[in-house]
Amino acid sequence: MTILGIESSCDECAAAIVADGRRVASNVVATQIARHAAFDGVVPEIASRLHTEWIQDVVSKAIADAGIAEGAIDGVAVTARPGLAGSLLVGVSFAKAFAWSRGLPFIGVNHVLAHLYAPLLDDEVEYPFIGLIVSGGHTLICRADGFDDVTVLGTTIDDAIGEAFDKVAKHYGLGYPGGSAIDRLARAGDAAACDFPRPNLYKGEHRYDVSYSGLKTAAIRQLDQFWNPAYERNDANLAAAFERAAVDMLVSRLLRALDDTGIRTVVAGGGVAANTYLRSRLAGRAELRVLFPPLSLCGDNAAMVAGLGYRMLERGDRDGLQLNASPRVAAFKRS
Ligand code: KG4
Ligand code: ZN
Repeated sequence: MTILGIESSCDECAAAIVADGRRVASNVVATQIARHAAFDGVVPEIASRLHTEWIQDVVSKAIADAGIAEGAIDGVAVTARPGLAGSLLVGVSFAKAFAWSRGLPFIGVNHVLAHLYAPLLDDEVEYPFIGLIVSGGHTLICRADGFDDVTVLGTTIDDAIGEAFDKVAKHYGLGYPGGSAIDRLARAGDAAACDFPRPNLYKGEHRYDVSYSGLKTAAIRQLDQFWNPAYERNDANLAAAFERAAVDMLVSRLLRALDDTGIRTVVAGGGVAANTYLRSRLAGRAELRVLFPPLSLCGDNAAMVAGLGYRMLERGDRDGLQLNASPRVAAFKRS
């Protein structure tokens, strides 16, 4: 079954053609980064307007790149939740019109679950596994028993990890988007330059949770207090120290979840899954199988949407034209 996937939940206007939930025939991502850079963050109004202007061309290019006739498409999957309301609506409306006018089945998918599906486009994996979804809007450690059956073990009690990267980068003018700018700078820095606080929310229900607002405040407002005077005060050292504190906190919770559950497979997804230090922390552990998406599928893309959509359509799930975009979603079940 050949699925057209559409993704427009934030600032990437994306379309992809994926066959049987596995073979990515095309993956077009038109990024709006340059149009939001002047504001150091995504401006929702600009994002939705650009999606409206770009989506037709992006979808046409995905079909052309795949080298298929439009008539070869068997179904349409679109990110319907969560995300920016105006941006989501563009993709959802386009997908509905595309599917309706061609009599194709159509399904709205959850963006967070789609991120978790990205590594599965390339690899077979057995359930259950521990999912690590880390992006600008989400920080989740979960147990996955199926492609849409996840139980949240831990999350952030305040900022998402990518949001913390973005805010620190914005404050110090390190570059936009902040996560990749910090990652780049950190390669030349020494993480020992600051000893940032690492809250340990060890007790009871917070056993796998993280918190980034304290780290963000330490990096932005209390740098004098945490800077080790033996090190030069420069952007690279700051980036390396911040990155290490942010990622170590996450990895400690992930390892705790693996130990407690006995599960040995980790599947990561989301923009922060591109982070070099995070990847290195989980690499070379013989006892674990760790699947990261290729860099091209870490950030928002439509291949992951088409892949997850295929699984749902294959099971018989369908949405009707009454499907609406939802900026928020009901929380996943908690353990
Ligand atoms: O998945 P994504 O494209 O959009 C959301 O669903 O949020 O993730 C974007 C987030 C941003 O916060 C960005 O700064 C972060 O991913 N990011 C990174 C890296 N590349 C992107 N964070 C750390 N290291 C990176 N290499
Ligand atoms: Zn995303």
